[in-house]
Amino acid sequence: MIIFETVQDFRAFMDERSVGQTLGFVPTMGALHQGHLNLVKKSMQDNDLTVCSIFVNPTQFDNPLDLEKYPRTLDADIAKLEQVGCNLLFLPSVKEMYPVYPPILFAPDLGMMLQVMEGRHRPGHFAGVMTVVKRLFEIILPNKAYFGEKDFQQLRVIQKMLEHLSLDIEVIPFPTVREKSGLAMSSRNVRLTDEEKDLALHIPRVLLHLQKRVSESPDQMSAILQQTTEELNSISGLKLEYLDIVDENTLQNVEVRPADVPIRACLAAYIGKIRLIDNMRL
Ligand code: PAF
Repeated sequence: MIIFETVQDFRAFMDERSVGQTLGFVPTMGALHQGHLNLVKKSMQDNDLTVCSIFVNPTQFDNPLDLEKYPRTLDADIAKLEQVGCNLLFLPSVKEMYPVYPPILFAPDLGMMLQVMEGRHRPGHFAGVMTVVKRLFEIILPNKAYFGEKDFQQLRVIQKMLEHLSLDIEVIPFPTVREKSGLAMSSRNVRLTDEEKDLALHIPRVLLHLQKRVSESPDQMSAILQQTTEELNSISGLKLEYLDIVDENTLQNVEVRPADVPIRACLAAYIGKIRLIDNMRL
């Protein structure tokens, strides 16, 4: 795997590549797990070359402590990427990504999509995500970019953001990868104690139960959502931030199942000091 630390070196390499070679891109903040590696593998199947980026983007953290504590495991990340055969790694510094810091944020008005869930609870988060993803897209210029469905709102925001840019990049969503226990893989999981990991298992358990109940009694969706919220609120050690059932396109809450659009239950909860998110299509 070739590692690039500067935009100039990366662009020089890409300018030399054979005409017509396709490039897949997997942006990450490191602390790689099987979810990231599956994105890399999918990209390798779809494209001639795959580039992964590792950059812990300071502009998307609304909480400075979260940024400070974000796991950084570069040596292990490089070993994992080499093991799956990733071709290229872009590993920029903050200075390389943002020559002037703080940068001017790229935050197009995406309407109500930004006012809900993560957008509501983490002010400024998506402005930081859009800013870094736009910059990465403009540097890497991939044909396809791969995003996990665990960050479902992020996936939708990036797809919508692309409508505002003249970049010919296809976003490829990829299903959430779960541990055997059902817990959605996340870089933040390494910060959970064993006891907290057990508590966190309530999240996929409750989502699965919600999915089953809504499929059995679709006309009872609002009542089921309310009961599920109460159940989560009653679990000691778990602090629910939100549980919403949303239209997958608009991300707005739905009270009855629309005929033509898939819906998804999305939640965020604190287990101790660690904030986890998860979601499931209903
Ligand atoms: O999902 C992530 O890891 C980050 O939000 C991303 C897309 C790499 C931007 O920093």
